[in-house]
Amino acid sequence: MNFRELRDVFGLFTTGVTVVTAVGPDGESVGITANSVTSVSLEPPLVLWCLASASSKLAAFAPGMPFAIHILAADQAELALQFARRGTRWPDDASPPGAAASPPQVPGAIARIECRTTVWFEGGDHKIILGAIEDLQAQPAAPLVFHASRFGTFTDQPVADLAPLQRRSSGPWD
Ligand SMILES: Cc1cc2nc3c(=O)[nH]c(=O)nc-3n(C[C@H](O)[C@H](O)[C@H](O)COP(=O)(O)O)c2cc1C
Repeated sequence: MNFRELRDVFGLFTTGVTVVTAVGPDGESVGITANSVTSVSLEPPLVLWCLASASSKLAAFAPGMPFAIHILAADQAELALQFARRGTRWPDDASPPGAAASPPQVPGAIARIECRTTVWFEGGDHKIILGAIEDLQAQPAAPLVFHASRFGTFTDQPVADLAPLQRRSSGPWD
């Protein structure tokens, strides 16, 4: 197994796309495109995502720092690319940094999950960032989807009734 093969197989796990924002210790707003976001716990509300330890924005997400996960809408692929460039500065077409150390808003996102890093774990060449969720906003709409290094949209495929499954379980996947 080589690096390329592993990356290609990881890419087969289709995900949504987020931009995670924060304010760094120097007061600069940062944003990073991330698809490693995973729901963890409902009670207490916890979420995780993985950030490359080599990221120029690492310090903004250290334990104790607030951050906000923005789930992107289907028409935000360009924005995802913009926030995937190394060392990118806060772009002009995103909203300007908010007051104090509040993580900046990404306008047009379908949800914003406000968190604070409780702890980060070493995960090879990434940090696994565990966030305690403090607030939520959502305006549900069509999501942006990422698969095999390509952006796309979600197509509904009606199958058997999911309702009985949802009644039995209380996982964050319901
Ligand atoms: C769709 C997509 C998903 C990504 N997901 C992640 C991720 O979960 N974690 C991560 O560290 N980088 C991820 N990246 C790469 C980062 O966005 C990119 O390396 C980063 O913005 C580079 O800037 P920096 O080194 O200044 O942080 C992703 C990129 C794309 C296009």
